[in-house]
Amino acid sequence: MRRSLVVGNWKMNGSVVMTDDLLTGLKEGVVRSLSAVDVVVCPPFLYIPLAVQMLAGTAIEVGAQNLDIHKPGAYTGEIAAEMLKEQRCSYVIVGHSERRALYGESSDLVAQKVKAAMAAELKPIICVGETLDERERGDTGRVVREQLMSVLDLNGVDIFPFAVVAYEPVWAIGTGRSASPDQAQEVHALIRESIAELNPVVADQTRLLYGGSVKPENAQGIFSSPDIDGGLIGGAALVASDFLAICASME
Ligand code: 13P
Repeated sequence: MRRSLVVGNWKMNGSVVMTDDLLTGLKEGVVRSLSAVDVVVCPPFLYIPLAVQMLAGTAIEVGAQNLDIHKPGAYTGEIAAEMLKEQRCSYVIVGHSERRALYGESSDLVAQKVKAAMAAELKPIICVGETLDERERGDTGRVVREQLMSVLDLNGVDIFPFAVVAYEPVWAIGTGRSASPDQAQEVHALIRESIAELNPVVADQTRLLYGGSVKPENAQGIFSSPDIDGGLIGGAALVASDFLAICASME
């Protein structure tokens, strides 16, 4: 049985005060009520040490939103996997559509980032998803498969179930327009089949998250699909009561 996983991606939001407030709220809620869901928060790099310190002794884990592919060295402005590991991160988001679209990250680079994360024993959360144009052209399956395959070609299927895949249709991110449960399930089934072609046992154990305008109101409908094992949450992860309600709907 796959354990559920809910990941909060704060994106470039937050401050010391907000981190303190939000995590105080989450800590109380998770201690009180959640047992069957793994919960992870991914703040901006600067707030990771504070988050780790505040969440010590709780079941909530901390992840990063990005990493560099190189070992520590002359790469001004970047953060290495080893540094995240040293700060006690457990997860790292890789290939988020905002990184692909705004910072030109190719599927090739995403595959190398997965490799760097794995080498440091950080669990990569590998994001895939189509744009609205691609969906309307009927290209969703091809695009998602290509993004996934470039990771598998470089890293092999054995990265799973340690690694996690997040399906985030670009048109659903921050738009208030979530994929319907059927639309999401269809792509999740395709992702699982693609992994199963290489190793059915591993495919069955791998956690597939959905992300894109998940809110307390639509979470239960989306999460009740058989191949959806949790969520990657943006806006609603910035409000403790909303994030907790989404986590609770996975129980
Ligand atoms: P929203 O939940 O704000 O749509 O963001 C989704 C996302 O991009 C999480 O990584």
